[in-house]
Amino acid sequence: MGRRKKKVWQNVKVTGLADKGMAVGRNEEGQVVFLTDVVPGDTVDALLLRKKKGVWRGVPQQFVEYSNDRVEEKCQHFQDCGGCKWQHFAYDAQLREKETIVRDAMQRIAQVEIEEFRPILGSSKIFGYRNKMEYSFSNRRWKTKDEIREDNIQESTDALGLHPPGFFDKVVNITSCWLQEEPSNAIRNFVREYAEKHQLAFFDPVNHKGFLRNMILRNNRKGEWMLVISFYEDRPQLIESLLTAIIDKFPAIVSVFYVVNQKKNDTLFDQEFIHFFGNSSLQETLGDVEYQIRPKSFFQTNTYQAETLYKVAKDMAALRGSEMVYDLYTGIGSIAAYVADQCRAVIGIEEVEDAILDARENAEANGIENAHFYAGDVRRVFTQDLMERHGRPDVVITDPPRGGMHEDVTRAILDMNPQTIIYISCNPATQARDIKILSASYEVKTMQPVDMFPHTNHIENVAKLVRK
Ligand SMILES: C[S@@+](CC[C@H](N)C(=O)[O-])C[C@H]1O[C@@H](n2cnc3c(N)ncnc32)[C@H](O)[C@@H]1O
Repeated sequence: MGRRKKKVWQNVKVTGLADKGMAVGRNEEGQVVFLTDVVPGDTVDALLLRKKKGVWRGVPQQFVEYSNDRVEEKCQHFQDCGGCKWQHFAYDAQLREKETIVRDAMQRIAQVEIEEFRPILGSSKIFGYRNKMEYSFSNRRWKTKDEIREDNIQESTDALGLHPPGFFDKVVNITSCWLQEEPSNAIRNFVREYAEKHQLAFFDPVNHKGFLRNMILRNNRKGEWMLVISFYEDRPQLIESLLTAIIDKFPAIVSVFYVVNQKKNDTLFDQEFIHFFGNSSLQETLGDVEYQIRPKSFFQTNTYQAETLYKVAKDMAALRGSEMVYDLYTGIGSIAAYVADQCRAVIGIEEVEDAILDARENAEANGIENAHFYAGDVRRVFTQDLMERHGRPDVVITDPPRGGMHEDVTRAILDMNPQTIIYISCNPATQARDIKILSASYEVKTMQPVDMFPHTNHIENVAKLVRK
């Protein structure tokens, strides 16, 4: 039986960005295909590969016309890594597209009037903006598209770098990444060279063996660095020699931890972090607040834009000093600490217990006495009992994960009836869904998208809702 011929749509115009680095293409009849490797403004003949949930997925078979918004990508790993999918799309065009995604979600899903929709705030740094990178060691190096095209497959199968999308075992061997400032690349490359020279085994993620497993690099704006390496095998002498060599080479590293992780998966939150050298945390200052960032702590990854985001949220809340504020999904209490000086009291709720310990310590270290923190699911903690203890909210600030708020939480906010809700979201679709429910009693005064992650499809959006 012969193979079925693949369908091609001619003259597909790419009209906008979609999720996961794809873009929306439309043929002359207006039918939709989600395409990879294109940017809005391109026109292509599209090869249709498969249908998912009734919509075609495809790739360009050939380009009919290139978009004026295409730019040369900066990164040598762009074709293989998938970390910065929009690097070949001009930054002002990225911002325009992200703003459109927020507007569309609000129109399509929330179906509410927005009194003031502000232009998106772009990131002041579009490279070197991350304060945390997580790399993996693997003995299953990803063969690059160039190697395959040129039929020049490199011998070594070891890699230290980033997973290509969809592969837990393969790793793209990163030699130069633009996401974090130097000496991030220098440290990672030194570790790889040291490991090769001393024949340290890179982790085999399929058969679970090997020595070197993961590496995390964090930095603050003062130029101080924290290093965490996780090992699969507990070999104290080898660990000590490697970590000492790194510390000797890079004086900017002020804090070193290691982990021996013998679980099947790479997650480290449930593992013991062994303090090897220097400080036990990094400090970062946002506004007047100094945050202690420990190796397990969540902290917004783009420090510069975190400051912008928190300032937008605080300004929108327009606190006068007398308000009772609830900060839902508070993480390490960053927003609670940031607004504490302008309200009567602030209550932070977060499900990760360690984060709540950080939040309490941070508040204490900053002399903040009017912030109180509770560990637990917002759905179970944000209740009438809590209101009886602290009083009902005048302002609710909420910053849930991508899935948005549980409907019970959204309805609990309606019941608590605050004057103002500040809703920070990293997913406009779920934010729009929740706003639709809240719009029964609230109107949307202001919306402010903020770009925290240039060259990616991630968007942050802050909405101010006021009681009708
Ligand atoms: C987007 S982060 C917000 C962090 C914080 N507002 C900040 O700016 O650093 C979402 C937080 O919600 C927490 N979280 C997720 N689901 C939760 C739930 N059901 N109840 C309480 N916290 C939750 C996560 O652990 C995470 O810290």
